Amino acid sequence: MVDDGDRGFSDRAAAAIEVHDLTRLFSGTTAVDRLSLRVERGEIFGFLGPNGAGKTTTLRMLSTLLRPTAGEAWVAGFDVTREPMEVRRRLGVMTERPALYERLTVDANLRLWAEAHEVPDADGAIRTALEAVDLGDRRHHSVSSLSKGLRQRASLARAILHRPAVLLLDEPSSGLDPAAAVQVEAMIRELVRDGTTVFLNTHRLAEAQRLCDRVAILKTGLVALGRPAELRARIFGNAISVQLADPLTVAVTEAVRRVPGVEHLAAQRTSFECRLKDIEEGTPCVVAAVVAAGGRVLEVKAAGDLEQAYLDLVSGDSSQPGVQEPGLREAA
Ligand SMILES: Nc1ncnc2c1ncn2[C@@H]1O[C@H](COP(=O)(O)OP(=O)(O)O)[C@@H](O)[C@H]1O
Ligand SMILES: [Mg+2]
Repeated sequence: MVDDGDRGFSDRAAAAIEVHDLTRLFSGTTAVDRLSLRVERGEIFGFLGPNGAGKTTTLRMLSTLLRPTAGEAWVAGFDVTREPMEVRRRLGVMTERPALYERLTVDANLRLWAEAHEVPDADGAIRTALEAVDLGDRRHHSVSSLSKGLRQRASLARAILHRPAVLLLDEPSSGLDPAAAVQVEAMIRELVRDGTTVFLNTHRLAEAQRLCDRVAILKTGLVALGRPAELRARIFGNAISVQLADPLTVAVTEAVRRVPGVEHLAAQRTSFECRLKDIEEGTPCVVAAVVAAGGRVLEVKAAGDLEQAYLDLVSGDSSQPGVQEPGLREAA
């Protein structure tokens, strides 16, 4: 167990995770292509991408379970290929399906894990980990008796038992109902407050947005990387969405088009989205134009459907960030 206050990083400057040109081929197909990124200590870093994007493959390389075809990666400053044992000691991993013995109790599962990691005070460590995931009252229940959500939490308890410097989570909320997913998210936040760095895979944009300090969008190669708000701005530019009380009229759309600084307009039945040169100057002018043309405004909010823009981004052929047109389409 590593608990020296610094969580056993190789040196002061070491990032939690550093990856250079990491690549993995499977019989000729490229699952992960020249991935480079750096995760700082104490971050919640989201690894977002559609199914088959290479998220699990990356996580398996980071957790030393799979050898990279090319490139390098370090966890807590240790090389995943040359120093796998050092890496494993500092890692907590939660795979997509909870890796627990069904017939054993939660306690027995964690005890085995504590032994494998030579955790000194196993009893205390198990209690602390179960408290962290709010599962103390199920300690002596068999895993098979737990719901999917509770198993996920038991699995998280196992991953944090040895107080790892870095936690790798593969789709932590997959298969959970929204309430259980929110609970798991709260636990992840709590762990970060306690000094852990979290790298989590998800195919859910909303989860990445809610939870992560920074997000990398992966589709075999890196598509984009930044804080959620930055990605949002990059994807949308300055766009607003205006909801009206009545169906949109030609008079209203024409009036909006004439407002200086309106660059695109996408019309729906009772709403429209438009992109503006300057959102603060443009928004009041757009509203005034709508009202002057007889429209009744119900709601104005910052741009569109991030989910759709994200899907457009990852379904495009280009792997260059920011080159795709955003989710706004020119109205016919
Ligand atoms: N063990 C394997 N053998 C062959 N192909 C694999 C293996 N693991 C993953 N792949 C392929 O690598 C690609 C990325 O998969 P994966 O990393 O599981 O994506 P994700 O977790 O983002 O859904 C997919 O095309 C998948 O079929
Ligand atoms: Mg996966």
